[in-house]
Amino acid sequence: MELWFQRFFTFRRFLGVSGMGVEWDESLSVGIGIIDDQHRKLIERVNAFADATESMDSREIENTINYLTGYVIQHFGAEELIMIRNRYPRFKEHRDEHSSFVKQVFDVFSLLGERPMTKEEAVALRDTLVRWVTHHIRVTDHGISETTKGALA
Ligand SMILES: [Fe+2]
Repeated sequence: MELWFQRFFTFRRFLGVSGMGVEWDESLSVGIGIIDDQHRKLIERVNAFADATESMDSREIENTINYLTGYVIQHFGAEELIMIRNRYPRFKEHRDEHSSFVKQVFDVFSLLGERPMTKEEAVALRDTLVRWVTHHIRVTDHGISETTKGALA
């Protein structure tokens, strides 16, 4: 079975891209305090996984993925509740992005149930996470504050 992040790995190798974790900067702020705080924590967890890919300690890889997944699910729930309460018009598309991410996380867990990750898989997953999280925050999550213009319920 080819996993979603393995496809990206081939592309990444083609581009010669390499990268580590995510550094917080103002472009990642959506201007909603509670969401920004959660995004900072989410980025800390992505970075903890990125650190684990350096040491390639398989227990550490698994622990940081577990830790990240728990936080992602909790954070998506909080964001979705804010969107529902505010009758956010693009809720369904936004939720679809969350759902497809969660399905991909399931594939990662399925793989880890069979065997430890290789270094190539862990690095490809790290780069995909960095790319997905920063793109989702800058584009999709920004939409929430742009649409509600700070008038959140
Ligand atoms: Fe989101």
